Amino acid sequence: MGEKHTVRLEPVGIEMEVDEDETILDAAFRQGLMLMHGCKEGQCAACKSFLLDGEVDLDRYSTFALPDYEEQEGYTLLCRAHALTDLEIELINFDEEVLRSGVPLQVLSARVEAIEELTSDIRRLVLKLAPGESMAFHAGQYVDISIPGHPQEHRSFSMANTCAAGDELEFMIKLYPGGRFSGLLSDGSISVGDELQVTGPYGVFTLRDSSPRRLVFIGGGAGMAPVLSLLRSMVEKNCERPAVYYYGARGEEDLFHLGELQELAAKLPDFRFVPALSNADTNGWGGEKGLITDVVDRLEGDLADVDAYLCGPPPMVDAAIALLMRRGTAESHIYFDKFTTSAD
Ligand SMILES: Cc1cc2nc3c(=O)[nH]c(=O)nc-3n(C[C@H](O)[C@H](O)[C@H](O)COP(=O)(O)OP(=O)(O)OC[C@H]3O[C@@H](n4cnc5c(N)ncnc54)[C@H](O)[C@@H]3O)c2cc1C
Ligand code: FES
Repeated sequence: MGEKHTVRLEPVGIEMEVDEDETILDAAFRQGLMLMHGCKEGQCAACKSFLLDGEVDLDRYSTFALPDYEEQEGYTLLCRAHALTDLEIELINFDEEVLRSGVPLQVLSARVEAIEELTSDIRRLVLKLAPGESMAFHAGQYVDISIPGHPQEHRSFSMANTCAAGDELEFMIKLYPGGRFSGLLSDGSISVGDELQVTGPYGVFTLRDSSPRRLVFIGGGAGMAPVLSLLRSMVEKNCERPAVYYYGARGEEDLFHLGELQELAAKLPDFRFVPALSNADTNGWGGEKGLITDVVDRLEGDLADVDAYLCGPPPMVDAAIALLMRRGTAESHIYFDKFTTSAD
């Protein structure tokens, strides 16, 4: 354990204790404070904040997330910053509803219950927690799964289910050639019955229940996981907010869970699922065509009064944020999870 310091978070006026050995973000998680974050690895900028007073030391990060000139101006990444003195920090992105709704972190062992093919490069992974164990989480959150044999290394995966299932966690995992974790799923090195270690829950891609606004979900690939979790939770909560889900895939063979999405449309009072295919060769496809952001651009009118939830690869999320902001969506009403990888 290192030296302890006090961190004051503005403008919310919360004080917390931080050990020099932990990042400020980890100290917040430990104390049940859900500060804004994404990758937790200095790649996505979701945790960017302003250092009003004091000194920090930063672990390795991407200069895309924190360019040098911003670091010199006083910006910092809470997922990389260690306090060297007492600190005063101005949170740039924060949401008081979420900040105090943190669920305590758990480190649990889970057994692989099922691995199923959803598409040629997306697998459904179901984990069952040990008897008597359960994990509380908000729909839309994610956990870190340790890489077998390398307990210090992990990959983040969003739950597709809700915590109503109690002892089960369901994931959608894209297979990457040479991927340290997904490679183990594709070559059979992880199989039913194996034990995996999960840590979580993390993430702020959660429904703001107090909002009356229409919901616009935009995503692609395995980014369906947290959106499905949110949609399933809306059914559980009898949520009546109008919602539309724009989902981008390459070809028809890359679409999955169409049956359940149709069922959700029947269960939710005002929900539409709009799949779109980006491959030029989509003969016989009667639905929308093109990049998912172009489809949203074409079909949507004014987007000033919506809550938007975006999830998928970083370039898709960035394009969707730019589109929404052009159409008048307030930055504070855009929520996203970028599925960054070690290659980013
Ligand atoms: C908040 C969050 C939630 C996420 N949720 C999900 C989810 O629900 N489903 C999901 O599928 N993914 C999700 N991800 C992404 C996931 O965590 C992993 O990053 C992803 O699965 C890749 O991990 P991997 O170990 O399989 O591949 P990695 O070993 O990380 O490699 C990924 C790819 O990059 C290549 N690569 C690695 N390093 C380099 C390099 N230096 N230069 C060039 N290429 C390189 C590899 O060959 C491979 O093709 C999420 C990420 C975040 C941050
Ligand atoms: S850069 Fe800190 S959470 Fe992604």
